[in-house]
Amino acid sequence: MSSVGVPRHVACVMDGNGRWAALRSRPRTDGHRAAEAAVIDVIEAARGAGVQWLSLYAFSTENWSRPGGEVDFLMRLVRGTLRRHAPVLHARGIRCRFLGVAYPRIPPGLARDIADLMELTGGNRRMTLTVAFDHGGRRDIVEAARSLIRGRVRAEDVTEASFARYLPYPDTPDVDLVIRTSGEQRISNFMLWQVAYAEWIFPSVLWPDFRAAHFWECLDTYRRRQRRFGGVPAPAALERGHR
Ligand code: IPE
Ligand code: IPE
Ligand code: MG
Repeated sequence: MSSVGVPRHVACVMDGNGRWAALRSRPRTDGHRAAEAAVIDVIEAARGAGVQWLSLYAFSTENWSRPGGEVDFLMRLVRGTLRRHAPVLHARGIRCRFLGVAYPRIPPGLARDIADLMELTGGNRRMTLTVAFDHGGRRDIVEAARSLIRGRVRAEDVTEASFARYLPYPDTPDVDLVIRTSGEQRISNFMLWQVAYAEWIFPSVLWPDFRAAHFWECLDTYRRRQRRFGGVPAPAALERGHR
């Protein structure tokens, strides 16, 4: 159990772009385009608040099932966003990583830009931004199991801690807070291992409208939560009204 301050690791499921566009009778792609401003605002808000790890769910392994035109648009949009913002991300001390990205499904130009951005920002330490792109939580777990088997690890040596070392980016701490916009309340295969004990907040605002003020509100809500990790509430917390 612990009292909570600023979450070390915040993860966002950036949902609601299509509905944002539909409300305006515009194509879904307009919603994706409008999402960029929210992404930039949230990165800055997280950095300013002292969040050390920020993960953003940008494209799932399931999202490949969307119409080809929408998928192509998203690939181009992500590439453009990286190119536009790489210098400022680097200047702000942000280390960028990509979780997922199974080659050769990703267009080669985008794959190159992703590699360049990771190389450029790899030494930064102010905040780590992990973009979950072509990401699937189950795939990561299956890949980890495969690596264990290939490495002939003995069954007795497989523990939660040793297993986690076979996941991509094993230095990533568990997620403390997940924010999923647009009112949807599900995991959608997102960082399944890492969210085991995360707090969840589901703002109804659609992602393209999500701004720093919404993010700060979520941090406030998080601060009022009591994390138990299976334990019992501390007496002081009971006095404050937590049950
Ligand atoms: C999230 O918005 C962006 C991606 C999944 C790439 P959606 O495109 O899922 O928007 P809705 O859920 O249809 O409104
Ligand atoms: C989850 O959103 C993936 C991303 C936000 C990138 P979806 O909109 O794809 O998830 P479902 O289909 O509603 O579960
Ligand atoms: Mg959605």
